[in-house]
Amino acid sequence: MLKWWQETVFYEIYMPSFKDGNGDGIGDFKGLLEKVPYLAELGVGGIWLTPFYPSPKVDNGYDVSDYYAVDPDYGTMADLEAFVAEAHRHGIRVIADMVVNHVSTEHAWFKEARRSQDDAKRDWFVWQDAPNNWESFFGGSAWEWDEPTGQYYYHSFATEQVDLNWANPEVEREIWKVFDFWLDKGLDGFRLDVINNLTLTQDFMDNPVADGCQRHIFDKDQPGMMAKMAEIGARIRARGDYFTVGEISSDNLAEIERYAGADGLDVTFNFNFGSVASRDGIIAELARMQQVYADGRMPTLFFGSHDMSRSWNRLADGREDVAQLLAMLMLTAHGVPFVYFGEEIGMADFVPESTREMRDVQGIYAYELALLDGKSEREALIVAQEKTRDKARAPMTWPEGFSDKAVAWIGEVTPDFARGQRMFAFYQALIALRKTADFCEPGYREFEVDGELLTYVRGDYLVCLNFGAAREMENKWGDLTEVLANRHMVVDANRVVLPAFAAVIFKI
Ligand code: GLC
Ligand code: CA
Repeated sequence: MLKWWQETVFYEIYMPSFKDGNGDGIGDFKGLLEKVPYLAELGVGGIWLTPFYPSPKVDNGYDVSDYYAVDPDYGTMADLEAFVAEAHRHGIRVIADMVVNHVSTEHAWFKEARRSQDDAKRDWFVWQDAPNNWESFFGGSAWEWDEPTGQYYYHSFATEQVDLNWANPEVEREIWKVFDFWLDKGLDGFRLDVINNLTLTQDFMDNPVADGCQRHIFDKDQPGMMAKMAEIGARIRARGDYFTVGEISSDNLAEIERYAGADGLDVTFNFNFGSVASRDGIIAELARMQQVYADGRMPTLFFGSHDMSRSWNRLADGREDVAQLLAMLMLTAHGVPFVYFGEEIGMADFVPESTREMRDVQGIYAYELALLDGKSEREALIVAQEKTRDKARAPMTWPEGFSDKAVAWIGEVTPDFARGQRMFAFYQALIALRKTADFCEPGYREFEVDGELLTYVRGDYLVCLNFGAAREMENKWGDLTEVLANRHMVVDANRVVLPAFAAVIFKI
């Protein structure tokens, strides 16, 4: 028997950018509620919501200041509940982003902790008299001097995101309460933010530095992490039929896969596959995943998120046929797919043209560090444009507009509704097909890589994905009935002629 999430296509919603329901230029639960029928029409069965908790939004909600409420920008608890009920009514489950590696420096726990060195909450955070060489994942030192109490606190991300001390059992007990609270509210599981970064030990060895670049060795995946992940997974599973997906800060398959499965979280994000810089690595990564997950566990399949350039630009070179090729791979291969909002209508990147348009803390840090490094403003802007995650965060281009307000919280991209309709229909057809048993069963009946051509058989379907130039392929299967294709194919008893970037599903 498959678990519900093994048959589900998930859809990531970046809270401030999906749909504004109250006309203030920021996406919210009212807007989301309006769009549930759209998501049902697309056919997705699960939604991942990025953080919606109260937050000063230095990192757009990944800096939580209260785990038990809804940020007023997104609405009220009642709005959240109405949205979840509406999603459930349409057969769509909802999972919440849980950011438990760090909290906002505005969180009451940290405000208490920073009252004095012997405050009861002091040890909920990580303090040192002198910093080691650890760098924050956003750049710069990961240690910040706290003047009033005369020690440094540890922040693996922005200065305003202070790391919790998971070596302290009180912290853990408090976080279990947070999990319980949201499961009691009716949510269906969690996406666990940078979950292998938890600080579990107190040895702060300097990280090795090679070619001026720090390797994050001692500030993540600490001893005890496997056991901790197993405990988190087990606790959530013990409560019922919930789903956990872990964000592992790594693009190394070996590091990613070890936390996924019955002894860990249900699945982990395969950045080895999803965040590749070009199409070249995709087939090879999938081939490796096919072997690693042949034991029945599932990888995740995605080409976009709020942390990377959109696949339309990064991988598809702005070509519809390539975008459809990628979609077919993601929605027919063995794994749990995550569509990033807007991808299904072929949305492109937004690139801030000046510092005024920049919203992402990572882009802003990169800009400031480049200036400190002696770069000119022009050069610093180019660095920031490369680093900024604003690219994928422009508001969804709805036919009626994102918001009633003229100006959204971040710059918008020019819509292309005709393209959007074609792409949507393609995604919809793929998702409908994926719901058939053939694509839900784990693994492949056949799997073959021939240069840039990838073919696999799942159930009664043959999928051919040509990542290269036009070519022919031997027809080993006989009667082939075309089910869905992005280009016109010529098929006869002996061969199939595949145009460049052809993607086709045949019934065999
Ligand atoms: C994850 C989130 C990212 C955030 C970071 C720190 O990587 O996806 O958006 O900035 O964690 O919480
Ligand atoms: Ca709003």
